[in-house]
Amino acid sequence: MNDQKSSGTIGLIAAIAAAVAITFALVVVLVQPAQAQQPQTQSNNLEVTPKMAAMTVRQRCSNCHAIAPDVNRFAPPLVGLIGRKAGSFQGFAYSDKIKNLDMTWTAAALNDWLAGTTFKTPDIRQRHVGIAHPELRKAVVAHIATLQN
Ligand code: HEC
Repeated sequence: MNDQKSSGTIGLIAAIAAAVAITFALVVVLVQPAQAQQPQTQSNNLEVTPKMAAMTVRQRCSNCHAIAPDVNRFAPPLVGLIGRKAGSFQGFAYSDKIKNLDMTWTAAALNDWLAGTTFKTPDIRQRHVGIAHPELRKAVVAHIATLQN
């Protein structure tokens, strides 16, 4: 009888120990990665690389704009953009605002467009995508300048 009782107590202790161990393991697994990520999210000096710029263009622009030559999508291609007259890609129906801009895309103009500083125009088709981070924006402009026919 006594033996049975003590083995029941041992079983209970073992079960509690196991529960504590599992909880501890979960806390370690769930909390560690969050702590490991903190230094990254707190860091302000993001180092912008050309690869990051290319990826940004793929993710933020290429849904609408073709980044391969002579492809017409929902928006005019970014290939050959630098040096092209604004609103002049054949076969794309631009809004009047862009057609009437009467300017040629330069790196500086594209930088302004993406910063939203000089093209806050209510009558383009939609509020256009911008890139707030100045270094990333510069790298994105440099990447787009390499996209040529
Ligand atoms: C949601 C779709 C969409 C996304 C995403 C988008 N654009 Fe556009 N973009 C357009 C449309 C539509 C136009 C044409 C607007 C018009 O005619 O009023 C345009 C026009 C432009 C023009 C003028 C083109 C010309 O031939 O004069 C530039 C430059 C431009 N976008 C750059 C970019 C860049 C760089 C990105 C990524 C950071 C981007 N866009 C993301 C839809 C988009």
